[in-house]
Amino acid sequence: MIANTTTTTHLAQILAQARAGTDALFALVRPDAFYERPVPERHRIIFYFGHLEAFDWNLISQAAAIPSFHPEFDQLFAFGIDPKTGQFPQDKPSDWPETSEVQRYTVRVRQTIDDVSNQISEQMLSVALEHRLMHAETFAYLLHHLSINQKNIPLVAPPPPGATPIHVMIEIPGGTVTLGQPRKQAYAQNQFGWDNEFDGHEVSVTAFAMSKYKVTNREYLEFVRAGAQPPLFWRRQEGQWRWRGMWGEAPLPLDWPVYVTHEEACAFAAWTGKRLPTEAEFHRAAYGTVSGEEERSYPWGDDQPDSRRGNFDGNRWDPIPVTATPLGDSAFGISQLVGNGWEWTSTVFQPFQRFQPLSFYPGYSARFFDGEHYVLKGASSRTDARLLRRSFRNWFRPNYPYVYAGFRCVED
Ligand SMILES: [Fe+2]
Repeated sequence: MIANTTTTTHLAQILAQARAGTDALFALVRPDAFYERPVPERHRIIFYFGHLEAFDWNLISQAAAIPSFHPEFDQLFAFGIDPKTGQFPQDKPSDWPETSEVQRYTVRVRQTIDDVSNQISEQMLSVALEHRLMHAETFAYLLHHLSINQKNIPLVAPPPPGATPIHVMIEIPGGTVTLGQPRKQAYAQNQFGWDNEFDGHEVSVTAFAMSKYKVTNREYLEFVRAGAQPPLFWRRQEGQWRWRGMWGEAPLPLDWPVYVTHEEACAFAAWTGKRLPTEAEFHRAAYGTVSGEEERSYPWGDDQPDSRRGNFDGNRWDPIPVTATPLGDSAFGISQLVGNGWEWTSTVFQPFQRFQPLSFYPGYSARFFDGEHYVLKGASSRTDARLLRRSFRNWFRPNYPYVYAGFRCVED
């Protein structure tokens, strides 16, 4: 593919911003904590420090035919991990290089890539950019579980107020939804999408009812009182439930969405006689319209995302009340379908028909088509605005508790 210079320059600028964003995240980690592993199923922090650059390097150096200056790091930092339950990584801090050495590697990678960025296809630059943006989010999940004395605490705005929700189920009439992006349209409009977003296609959805709000901590507390295990983000202290936030603990905010695993979400839904929505039902509720003719780009319409519409784009670290952003409601009046926590669906992560892996990154999605991952839709507080496009799909194992993910229930 021949690079379109105007667009690649623009993308290179956005990549520079994204690098500044991830640099700012690493600056929140105290130097002595770079060899910690806050999530047992993931690598130590030092890995991610090298990974973002090694990924870009491995991708772009091949395409631009630049010889490696550090093959050992290119390989060491090449891939993240997603082990099956109980198969935790066993490496030691001493297995990893010094941060200063990794820092030198990252500086040189950036300089070299910047020198050739106008020779790189837009698609490849978009992959580098979105890979980094997604890691900016998943790195926040790791940071969340680093102990507070290992983090440099920034100034944090207090959460906005929000009324206690009145939980109602809203009827959604049946209709047709578009999952993914039609390939032809993406080419014509020069719109990037990951391999799993193709090929776009229509699915018809029969009528159902969905809760206006995400399930809150208050609702989930009833389930815990009935004998369920508390979510990872809660802690019990002297008879009181506490919220384990990014920058410290607080009394459990009852009107915030609960963060849970897929398994916990399913168990709650079953306990209330309801179920999780499918990916297509989520689309219908979020992007559908009453007339059924048009689908929206975002739940609120076609306006670009901004902070009045929802809790996303890294404006905050932790959730806000489920009632706090009515300007983001969907055509059917459903709140916060995008932002304030991903939402688990009942759909197993599988390829759409006519799926084709990216030639230069064949395993991106295909490694996860194992029937052991579920689709999440929406966004969390840490999801970049660029990733709020309708066709974007996220996926995790059903028992992975570190995602900023909640859910809402539906019934037939
Ligand atoms: Fe990665």
